[in-house]
Amino acid sequence: MGTTSGAVTRKRFRYRNYRRDDLDAMVALDASCFDVPFRFSREAMCRFAEAENAWVILAEDGQGLAGFCIVHREQSVGPPIGYVVTIDVAQRWRNQGIGERMLSDAEAWVRSWKCVGMMLHVFVRNERALRFYERLRYRRVGLQKSFYGPDLDAAMYWKDLTSAQK
Ligand SMILES: CC(C)(COP(=O)(O)OP(=O)(O)OC[C@H]1O[C@@H](n2cnc3c(N)ncnc32)[C@H](O)[C@@H]1OP(=O)(O)O)[C@@H](O)C(=O)NCCC(=O)NCCS
Repeated sequence: MGTTSGAVTRKRFRYRNYRRDDLDAMVALDASCFDVPFRFSREAMCRFAEAENAWVILAEDGQGLAGFCIVHREQSVGPPIGYVVTIDVAQRWRNQGIGERMLSDAEAWVRSWKCVGMMLHVFVRNERALRFYERLRYRRVGLQKSFYGPDLDAAMYWKDLTSAQK
């Protein structure tokens, strides 16, 4: 698992890397963000967060977990890319820049691992998330039918990270 330079405090939120004892809070936050079948089981969350190719950032305030993002470095054919496994911000802490900050740090991490871009899937009816990614210059590059289940399609988004522009 990758590491960052340590915990960083900005405004009232503190950003740091994953520890195993974060798992229960992450699963609970994910369940508050997503209905079945979009949410992760504890086992899946553990597998994704602790994968060898994973990088995880968490945001917390004095009262607990405000958000987290899991990114994987993927390589099959061609150059490596980053993949956003999930990004979750607790309802009460949305629209304060936490999501943007975590995704921006994730992009810096995948860049540092020589990845050429970031890929992700998002449910086609998740309007808030679609707007969020598009504002951050992610481009819709495809549609994966029934990705989340029957008739639950995913849009595929890509951001080129090779240019100097963020
Ligand atoms: C999508 C998600 C991660 C965004 O997190 P967030 O922390 O609210 O994101 P940000 O605060 O960076 O941006 C959200 C909006 O707040 C606005 N904003 C950011 N900081 C702000 C501030 N200080 N004051 C006012 N508005 C602000 C942004 O401009 C943005 O507006 P937009 O929706 O029109 O693009 C969050 O909504 C979430 O967890 N949703 C549920 C889980 C989910 O769907 N995840 C994506 C799965 S693919």
